[in-house]
Amino acid sequence: GSNQMWGGRFASGPAAIMEEINASIGYDRKLYRQDIEGSIAHATMLADCDIISAGDRDKIIHGLNTIRSEIEAGDFNFSRKLEDIHMNVEARLSELIGPAAGRLHTARSRNDQVALDFRMWARGETEKAVGLLQSLIAAFLARAEEHAKTVMPGFTHLQTAQPVTFGHHCMAYVEMFGRDLSRMEDCLARMNECPLGAAALAGTGFPIDRSQTASALGFTGPTRNSIDTVSDRDFALEYMAAASICATHLSRLAEEIVIWSTPQFGFVTLSDAFSTGSSIMPQKKNPDAAELVRAKTGRINGDLIALLTVMKGLPLAYSKDMQEDKEAVFDASESLELALAAMTGMVGDLTVNAKAMKKAAGSGYSTATDLADWLVRELGIPFREAHHVTGRAVAVAVEKGVALEKLTLEDLQSIHPRITDSVFGVLTVEKSAASRKSFGGTAPQEVRRQIRFWKKRLGAS
Ligand code: ARG
Repeated sequence: GSNQMWGGRFASGPAAIMEEINASIGYDRKLYRQDIEGSIAHATMLADCDIISAGDRDKIIHGLNTIRSEIEAGDFNFSRKLEDIHMNVEARLSELIGPAAGRLHTARSRNDQVALDFRMWARGETEKAVGLLQSLIAAFLARAEEHAKTVMPGFTHLQTAQPVTFGHHCMAYVEMFGRDLSRMEDCLARMNECPLGAAALAGTGFPIDRSQTASALGFTGPTRNSIDTVSDRDFALEYMAAASICATHLSRLAEEIVIWSTPQFGFVTLSDAFSTGSSIMPQKKNPDAAELVRAKTGRINGDLIALLTVMKGLPLAYSKDMQEDKEAVFDASESLELALAAMTGMVGDLTVNAKAMKKAAGSGYSTATDLADWLVRELGIPFREAHHVTGRAVAVAVEKGVALEKLTLEDLQSIHPRITDSVFGVLTVEKSAASRKSFGGTAPQEVRRQIRFWKKRLGAS
């Protein structure tokens, strides 16, 4: 038979394959709560504006609450013939309360309805991301505080560069996840406008009150342009863009954890709770959670590109292409939330092997820059010449097979006669790290200053 919603215009029903390509109920059923909440606010407003009667409003609200309980009890029969969550709910409402159900869709279209439901969903996921990021940052702040003085090698090109502190390295991630947090907060503020009342695309002739529904649903106010409202998915794109950047940070951290936890590096040991064993090699402890975080990033990036690509050719206003917006966001949010939670667990649980870090920090002549700086500061030698002198000192150390600070004063004086034994005061990794007191530098006191800043910021947000 023809459709119960638009059967007036249609003599026959859809082909089976049409029904299959057209249906979104398989995934948009996730939006049932937003759909029902939005409909209750809409019905309440319609009655307040004398567009429907108080009696019909009460029947509608009662019916919608019943439907929510049915869905939550697993007692709801979702039908693909009814295409999507909006029509499934409305059809059931009509079974439950009869003709009054037909008044709910007054001054509304599925176009503003779906824009509302999906925006409320995205808002919820963005709020979750904010909370999860705050927990991850808190986990890092705790590790940074513990390890403000723990020396490790800093790398460029993954080659030993200069000694840094593990606390400082942790605080680098705090900056990254802090930017993610503020991106999420920014897009939350921008997306928090209510689409309801845009109707199909042109608004409505009924005397509705858009501010009422907006505030009932926790929005700052109604959207301003009805055409934009039903064709806009920026809220989803922005959330996924922020999610992709955040996932990129998680993935870089995951990569570092994979490297650090190898026996060759041995900088950290993952807790049993966040690693797996091997079915054949009894000695193995694998960083699977970190690897999966790294992989989830690929999915999340793909989700962003998928929706950008769906949207890029669409004329205003609504096109059915936009029904393909949801799965990308569902997948991205599920992946991001898992990755954030797993990373928070890993960071909080991992054991820092300070001895291995310190040993590695001293290898690879990591304090060569400190020697060059000493020559500049104490002897007034231009930096370029000091760089050259230090290069020769490194060459002698390489030849003798010793660390820089194990060269004798004679060794050093044979390279430059004015070097004195006070130079040995700057060649240890601790002294090197402690000397870098410039704002944002790796010295423990600077790291502690940054920790104080972030604790205050988190407390305030
Ligand atoms: N299921 C649809 C979606 O997700 C609802 C909107 C349908 N609107 C329309 N004009 N056919 O986009």
